[in-house]
Amino acid sequence: MDAALVGRDAVVERVWRALAAGTPVLLDGPSGIGKTALWRAVLDHARRTGWRLLSAAPTEAETALPYAALADVLRPLVDALPGLPAPQRAAADMVLLTGEHDGAAVDERAVGAATRTLLDTAVTDTPRLLLAVDDPQWLDPPSARALRFALRRLSRWPAVLATHRTGGNPPAPVPLGLDDDPTGRHPLLRADVPPLPAPDLHRILQARLGGTLSRPLVERLARDA
Ligand SMILES: Nc1ncnc2c1ncn2[C@@H]1O[C@H](COP(=O)(O)OP(=O)(O)OP(=O)(O)O)[C@@H](O)[C@H]1O
Ligand SMILES: [Mg+2]
Repeated sequence: MDAALVGRDAVVERVWRALAAGTPVLLDGPSGIGKTALWRAVLDHARRTGWRLLSAAPTEAETALPYAALADVLRPLVDALPGLPAPQRAAADMVLLTGEHDGAAVDERAVGAATRTLLDTAVTDTPRLLLAVDDPQWLDPPSARALRFALRRLSRWPAVLATHRTGGNPPAPVPLGLDDDPTGRHPLLRADVPPLPAPDLHRILQARLGGTLSRPLVERLARDA
């Protein structure tokens, strides 16, 4: 599906089929295995096929910035803010740094409610809607709480895709409460991102470094990686 993405056609197809059928998907795998590369390929495919995207890909430095990730997710829905009830509008304005905010402390419940209303409206208006979060371990905590609050209360979910770094100690919890849908209507697909076989690794190394590596060396790299 993506020329730059090597050896992942089968998993991209599987993930895409699940998302298009409304099944939330978690891309599971250890650090460096290729979750972000896969996540981006799925988003590119969604864009090319006319899906609307609400996405965030936070970095470690951004975990300290309240609502930075939620603002990324909600920014495409900014036109819907005027239709929100006043307390939710004020909360959404604060998250998106739109309108005038008087600096008063923000009610997290109002942010959660605004997130829910905006997502609810977006799902109704746009059936082909994908909510996607890469590296959710770096979500700033208020954004993570608002998204989780909203998902637990949505009657209908958008397609949802997240990555999940495995192998940590203690293990990272499943993000956004994706394994905790109280309606039971959105069973989660956990798609394991497997290591690439040696020939695929060789193609990537050739493309990035130029030249050819010996077969024993590539096999050793594949084993070690
Ligand atoms: N299938 C692939 N084809 C080409 N390049 C790839 C592929 N998979 C991964 N890469 C490259 O390998 C590197 C590591 O991949 P990536 O960042 O996707 O890993 P990750 O699983 O998201 O890691 P982390 O858990 O640290 O976020 C990146 O430079 C990425 O572009
Ligand atoms: Mg990543």
